[in-house]
Amino acid sequence: MVTLKSFAVDMAHQAGILLKKKFYQTHQIQYKGDINIVTEADKLSEDLILKAISRKFPSHGILSEESPAITGSGKFRWIIDPLDGTTNYAHGYPVFCVSIALEKEGKIILGVIYDPMRDDMFVAILGKGAYLNNKKLVVSKTHDLSKSLLATGFPYDIRESKENNLDYFNAMAINVRAIRRAGAAALDLAYLAAGRFDGFWELKLKPWDTAAGCLMVQEAGGKVSSLLGRKWNLLSPDILASNGLIHRQMIHTLRRKSI
Ligand code: IPD
Ligand code: CA
Ligand code: CA
Repeated sequence: MVTLKSFAVDMAHQAGILLKKKFYQTHQIQYKGDINIVTEADKLSEDLILKAISRKFPSHGILSEESPAITGSGKFRWIIDPLDGTTNYAHGYPVFCVSIALEKEGKIILGVIYDPMRDDMFVAILGKGAYLNNKKLVVSKTHDLSKSLLATGFPYDIRESKENNLDYFNAMAINVRAIRRAGAAALDLAYLAAGRFDGFWELKLKPWDTAAGCLMVQEAGGKVSSLLGRKWNLLSPDILASNGLIHRQMIHTLRRKSI
């Protein structure tokens, strides 16, 4: 496990440093949808991580945002977002990260999220806690939703779909202290684990956005469920994560969104 952890930390660090180096240059943007973009940096970061995995662990499976999935022959699968916060990155807004998770027989056992601009290395190991730069993380103690700082995001089909989080956002905004839409879901979850946010929800995220972050939240003592409180898994269409103390209040507020 130590080898796997050091490997993942090293990969996240190397990829993060590469992203930071390229951050101040002009980016080549390609469109995956109307507002869903990918830059050359996403691909370079992914290339670095994927090559290292295939070299060191050729039997491991890989699910990474910008490449076709690789089915491994063993128990392990890496789940990777090589650049979470691409829109921020392309606009020169310095909020983004690399997210790497390791799944063993369907269970996330390791999560690493690295923000190279702040040199914040978040690491979670199943059953062994979550850490920021080697310091143990514990979720916040806020128990009153009206005093909470929350995070959320909006899906890339915001223009086409009615399930675009705007009504949930309206319902929540008038019941909390403030909501941030920072633009990097993996980092939102890491910040929740670190007590910087009290809660987070979002629709239509993908496994690479949530795999490492959810383990981080749970290992820091927080709670993860579906938006309305059901059991969450990597393929769930929506997510609600919190310090545990405001979880029911968040569900209650989200349930009332259309009233
Ligand atoms: C996106 C970010 C954003 C969230 C989007 C994600 P990307 O990931 O995490 O905060 O709102 O839904 O897709 O495209 O920057 O890797
Ligand atoms: Ca992402
Ligand atoms: Ca991404």
